[in-house]
Order: sequence, then structure tokens, then C-alpha cells
Amino acid sequence: MDYYCVIGFPIKHSLSPRIHNRAFKKFGISARYEAVSVRPEDLGKFMRRFRARYVGANVTIPHKQKVMRFLDGVSVEARKIGAVNAIVNRGGKLIGHNTDCFGAMEALKQNGARRLEGKRAVVLGAGGAARAIIYGLKRAGAHVLVLNRTLAHAKKLAKEFRCQSGNLKDFDPAKCDILISTTSVGMWPKTSLSPLPNLLKFYSKNKLSRPFVMDIIYRPHITKLLRDAKRAGCQIITGDHMFLAQAAKSFELWTGRKSGLMKLWRDQGSNRNFGVP
Ligand code: ATR
Repeated sequence: MDYYCVIGFPIKHSLSPRIHNRAFKKFGISARYEAVSVRPEDLGKFMRRFRARYVGANVTIPHKQKVMRFLDGVSVEARKIGAVNAIVNRGGKLIGHNTDCFGAMEALKQNGARRLEGKRAVVLGAGGAARAIIYGLKRAGAHVLVLNRTLAHAKKLAKEFRCQSGNLKDFDPAKCDILISTTSVGMWPKTSLSPLPNLLKFYSKNKLSRPFVMDIIYRPHITKLLRDAKRAGCQIITGDHMFLAQAAKSFELWTGRKSGLMKLWRDQGSNRNFGVP
């Protein structure tokens, strides 16, 4: 039996075990995927145990950057992004990958945000997920503005990825074609929060063209930010699109298999969050 895991803190909300265990079963692979809560101060200790027990993993909040120092190598893309959300253990060698970037670009593409060249993209948040998304957007030719609660974090990213930066309150509805939240604001169970509480007010008062609005949170299915965006007439992209696309890419890295995954997971009810709130 091969063991896989997702590590994060908090991790209770994660739906990764459900979807990956379902896929292992479907493909007849003898493996188990579990969620492991790892406090930031315990990451080093856990990674030493990891090598002996697990053949693969996903990495989530808040470890996507710090985990890199415990790996033997990282893919070219993960190095450029500066964040890892998938690990492959090949005979004791731990290699880090980034499948978030692929996941986010797939999510945009699948939902009609295809041509990104010259588009004004506003990214909320400056963590590991933001890095992957900014990298993808820049590569596709978009103009990127990163807005964050802590300005210093946004400034650091802006310098690295050659984009603009500001505070969340600097959001200008007249200068946004695509809005993507990578913050944890609004995640279950604090579902009444939004990183941009005034979004609905901004857009209901004028005839500005409406941006695509994407949230990478997938639990709840429709976050407060997306609810407001929908009411304001924006096209919304729910977090399950990126979640499933990054998961499929991770599964492919571990097992070499990819076909049928999306259908399996969609049939399983991803758009209703697999039966959980
Ligand atoms: P990940 O690696 O998954 O992206 P992260 O590195 O913990 O996760 O980043 C989370 C992001 O959410 C950060 O940009 C964080 O802002 P700070 O840089 O100011 O910490 C943002 N965030 C978390 N809680 C927030 C809150 N209550 N309000 C606004 N932003 C918040």
C-alpha cells in the first residue's frame, strides 16, 4: 500500500482525500491519501518522517514556500514561481512541483477567460497561491496588480514578478478585467467574510464593464466575494475548477494517469462540494 497526504494548517476543510482516494479506487491502485495537520513550527520534523512513509503529497496553506527547503529538488516552474504544492518521492528523493499555476490557467480557460494578453488582472493576496497565479498571468501577457493586507508582502512579489502592488483598499473597479482572490478570507467556516466587502457597491453604482471574478476557495462552493460579484453582474469562476485541475495534474505526476479524472470527480459532485457544506 502506497501512502499519500496533503499537509496544511488548518487542513480539516480539505477535500483532497475524498477525490484522490476515489481516483485510486477507480484505477485499482493500492494507495491511501490522508490529510495531515502540520503546524508551521513542526514542518521540518514532519518532513523527516515524510520521506520514509509517503510516496507523494500536496502542500497547502501555510507551507507552500517553506516546504521547499526540505526537498532534494524542485521543477523549473516551481523554482521560478517560488512555491511548491505537490511533492513526488522517487526512491527517497523528494522533488517539488507546482500544479497550482496549471490549475488556475485551466480554470480561466474552461470558463471563457481565454485571451489574457493585455488584460488587467488584479490578484488579491500575496502567498504561495498568488505566486503561481501571477506567474501564469504574466506568462500569458496580462498586466498584473497584486493587492494585499500586508503591503510589504505585495511589494516583494511585485518586485520579483515585475508587476504593480498595493493594499486591498486600493482596488479600482474601473481598472480590472479579471479579479482573482487567493486569500483565505471567506473560507469555511467564516463564510460571511469577503476580501473586498464593497465589491457589490462598487459595481452596482455604475455602468463599468464587469470583470471575471475567480476565488480559489472551494469550500464554500460560492464564497461571499463570488456571491457579491454575481449579484453585480460579473461572470464568476468557482474554486472547484482550479482545485480539480491542480489535483488532476498532481495525480498524473504521482501515477502517470490522467484520463477520466475530471469526469470521475465531476460525477462525484464537485460542484456541490461532494456533499459537504
Ligand atoms: P497560500 O500559500 O496558500 O497562498 P498564505 O501564504 O498563507 O497561503 O497566504 C494567504 C494570503 O491570504 C496572504 O496574502 C494573507 O495576507 P498577509 O500577507 O497580509 O498575511 C491573506 N490573508 C489571510 N487572512 C487575511 C485576512 N483576514 N484579511 C486579508 N488577507 C488575509
